[in-house]
Amino acid sequence: MNPTENIAFNELSKSEKYQYLHTTWEHLYDPKCHSIGNLSNAIALVRSIFNHWWVGIYQVVDQSLHLSMFQGDVACTRIEKGKGVCGTAWSNQSSIVVPNVHEFEGHIACSSASNSEIVLPIILSSGECWGVWDIDSVHFNEFDDQDRAELERFIERLAEQKLFNY
Ligand code: SME
Repeated sequence: MNPTENIAFNELSKSEKYQYLHTTWEHLYDPKCHSIGNLSNAIALVRSIFNHWWVGIYQVVDQSLHLSMFQGDVACTRIEKGKGVCGTAWSNQSSIVVPNVHEFEGHIACSSASNSEIVLPIILSSGECWGVWDIDSVHFNEFDDQDRAELERFIERLAEQKLFNY
């Protein structure tokens, strides 16, 4: 059964949506499945609940960020350290909330439809930065400190489940 069907997410508050995300993920996560399948589901779940334009991850490979799993339109494949929102979040190892991407100096526009963005570093238990989690929205001011805290918690859980292992 698809846990995102038949639910009017637009009638839920942001807190209720995150509660649904955290609870549903524990049922959806399948320890017997490859991490690629699990992460694809995690990304799809976030996108379905919040109806975001683009949700995906970039992985650190050979000193740059390489496009990995995502849901949404085609995206740029490689981002250098310190470049764009993703490269900056990686370089600072801290999350960035961008209320208006057009005002972020150096923003990399993969799609002209995106107006706000949040990027969170994916930190492993070893302290190593594996990559970044990126979400784009067609709305301005879509993300705030609540999204930052809830998504950091979600990514921490995925890291605990050792899904960033490829
Ligand atoms: N906007 C990002 C690039 C990645 S796409 O949004 C998928 C950035 O400035 O790093």
